[in-house]
Amino acid sequence: MSSLLVDNIGELVTNSEGGAGPLGVRRNAALLVEDGLVAWVGPARDAPAADRRIDAEGAAVLPGFVDSHAHLVFAGDRAAEFAARMAGEPYTGGGIRTTVGATRAATDDELRATVRRLRDEALRQGTTTIEIKSGYGLTVADEARSLRIAAEVSEETTFLGAHVVPAEYADRPDDYVGLVCGPMLAAAAPYARWIDVFCERGAFDVDHARAILACGQAVGLGVRVHANQLGPGPGVQLGVELGAASVDHCTHLTDADVDALASTRIDCMCAEGQHTATVATLLPGAEFSTRSPYPDARRLLDAGVTVALATDCNPGSSYTSSMPFCIALAVREMRMTPAEAVWAATAGGAAALRRTDVGRLARGARADLMILDAPSYLHLAYRPGVPLIRQVLCNGVPQCRP
Ligand code: NIG
Ligand code: FE
Repeated sequence: MSSLLVDNIGELVTNSEGGAGPLGVRRNAALLVEDGLVAWVGPARDAPAADRRIDAEGAAVLPGFVDSHAHLVFAGDRAAEFAARMAGEPYTGGGIRTTVGATRAATDDELRATVRRLRDEALRQGTTTIEIKSGYGLTVADEARSLRIAAEVSEETTFLGAHVVPAEYADRPDDYVGLVCGPMLAAAAPYARWIDVFCERGAFDVDHARAILACGQAVGLGVRVHANQLGPGPGVQLGVELGAASVDHCTHLTDADVDALASTRIDCMCAEGQHTATVATLLPGAEFSTRSPYPDARRLLDAGVTVALATDCNPGSSYTSSMPFCIALAVREMRMTPAEAVWAATAGGAAALRRTDVGRLARGARADLMILDAPSYLHLAYRPGVPLIRQVLCNGVPQCRP
């Protein structure tokens, strides 16, 4: 069993008991890795001997980001649609069908190359766990291959056959729901951990969404929902009703939506408890790229809702893989404190995936971490747009330096 000591850490974010504040911060710390797991955390002066050593040189060390919402399996891009939006066009989700056409026409290797390129891009920015959705295939074969390719690089894969009704089913949405619940789910489920529905005007109504999510649950998939992105609607409360791990976007919420989410809260801000909450996953990259009002994060946090931050990386509404960018947006535009934003991007993402082995750095957790080129996590928001990730370790293994 080989061991690795990450030593001389100026500020260690643990998201765990034993450190200060909601981030469980320890100063002048060290962390021992054995067999890919955190074996010990403590003061640098008490650090045990190890086979190898990484000197953090007084920098900050954080758990790797947990990006719990990304759509990486697609072909083509929609830069022209983005330019039109910046010139005043609204975002409606209508461009999803453009990407569906390009994705269906792509080879497996082309899709695989895009998924790996974006996964690597995210890794260089500190993301060590990334959820990947299907949803740009929308045929039995294209959804299954999207998930098969996603599963090659992530254990967090989500079947989103109910992203939109594809053009060939435009006049018979009931038939498309039947396809999603039947042969498409059967082909997708072996490669998926989760099921998701875009529950929104213009996509799937609440009855269709409930039926699809229930079919997924019946074959053992966990539930997540794209909810309340473009306007108020039933998605958030449907997610709570079904015990969803996460409802995502949450841009337009009523008091009843916030109350429903708060009723599922986990009491401990630390990530060690059992996750039973329905997390509100906020995706500020989407509001940035669609020039839309940001979700009211303060209202959710002040009500006690568990909040996660994720990128929503996709070619339409949010073509960013950068969790540091999302943290900076959340702090500047959504009035989250830097500590709340960093927690939401690490432990919050883990809660949204019902994981306790990632998003924190405590004995027994996976040694997924990043060393910053900065003395404090505060710099992630304080120095927006700056590549601050010096080194990333996955399971204790140093990845290529960014
Ligand atoms: O989460 N809202 C639905 N799906 C994606 C956008 C997809 C697209 O525009 O291609 C989202 O924002
Ligand atoms: Fe999304």
